[in-house]
Amino acid sequence: MTSPKRSRRSLVRPLVRGLHAYTPGEQPKIPGLIKLNTNENPYPPAPAVLRKVRLAVDGRLRLYPNPTAEALRAQLAALHGGTPDHLIVGNGSDELLALAVRCFVEPAGAQPDSASTVQFFAPSYSLYPVLAQIHGAACRAVPLPPDFSLPGVPALRRAGQYDFNAALTLVTTPNAPSGRGYATQDLDRLCAATRGVLVLDEAYVDFAEEQALELALRHPHVLVARTFSKAYSLCFQRVGYFVGHPDLIAALQKIRDSYNVNGLGQIAAQATLEHLPYYRRNFARIIQTREKLSRALAARGFRVLPSSTNFLLAQPPAPDAGTWLEALRARKILVRWFKNSPVEAYLRITIGTPAEAQALLRAVDDFHPQGVPNPRAR
Ligand SMILES: Cc1ncc(COP(=O)(O)O)c(C=O)c1O
Repeated sequence: MTSPKRSRRSLVRPLVRGLHAYTPGEQPKIPGLIKLNTNENPYPPAPAVLRKVRLAVDGRLRLYPNPTAEALRAQLAALHGGTPDHLIVGNGSDELLALAVRCFVEPAGAQPDSASTVQFFAPSYSLYPVLAQIHGAACRAVPLPPDFSLPGVPALRRAGQYDFNAALTLVTTPNAPSGRGYATQDLDRLCAATRGVLVLDEAYVDFAEEQALELALRHPHVLVARTFSKAYSLCFQRVGYFVGHPDLIAALQKIRDSYNVNGLGQIAAQATLEHLPYYRRNFARIIQTREKLSRALAARGFRVLPSSTNFLLAQPPAPDAGTWLEALRARKILVRWFKNSPVEAYLRITIGTPAEAQALLRAVDDFHPQGVPNPRAR
């Protein structure tokens, strides 16, 4: 006698059934659309990087890649200081953030406590709560002040919302989605006061005034996350890395997939590090476009926050951000809107080329020809 079939729904763990997956930015198929919604770099990889990748597409594709991205880790150690044992490479920094949750955080039991807590500031990278939920960990979202500045340690103690013993704290620096940069000195104080593992997620740091990588080499419980996606025009290849104490790195190495970084990604990242001046010129171009665009939007009634990244968070004038999103989309410009979030009143606009910035401004003028100054604008 066969037993009665279980419903397909009941085959899936209750935790997974209840999950809301991370929502990535839209990847549109509409021709001619200007894509300013996922913080990709508008400039291509260096020509030599493309050549190296093309040259590698041959019979070697049948072989497994180096399991620990050994050569890339050696190059990164030479660049940042430390040794290859201070480095782990991942399939994008997203993979490493997920590994950090699995490595350092206990799934929450009936009584969630610090050991089962993933902590982050709100707003910050919207993937963090999803990673915590996938793992069955507790989430602790500590609100940022209205200007998105990093609260000092005394203020965090007074407010009582930050758990200095949380198993894992994830800090996006510069902050996303606000674009606000944080001083290394302030991050250092936060690191010194926090007892659990603290990840400084520096996905956008190449567009900022300060970077905090030294903190990962100084504090044994601090990891710095970097990615080749944004500043190094390699989103497609999926390469990110963590820098930190060899004991934490060794623990992460234990639980990753055997061949987690694809071979072409390793080749592209290695070649990238041989052509840093090309990328540094692009950072300067992007920062210049960012500052010009910021002024031009402010002149059109947008309230634009200062940015240390390759995007702007801007509150459009009336009617509202959702309507603006659709109006710009109708004019072939795609930006990001975080509906039902603390930044619902804003649009996040990736910095493209100067021509793309001009196209955005034309679309703004077309939708809002009056150019009425926004009373909220600073
Ligand atoms: C703050 C932050 N961290 C990490 C990532 C992930 O980068 P990667 O492409 O390396 O997975 C992103 C991507 O949007 C991000 O915004």
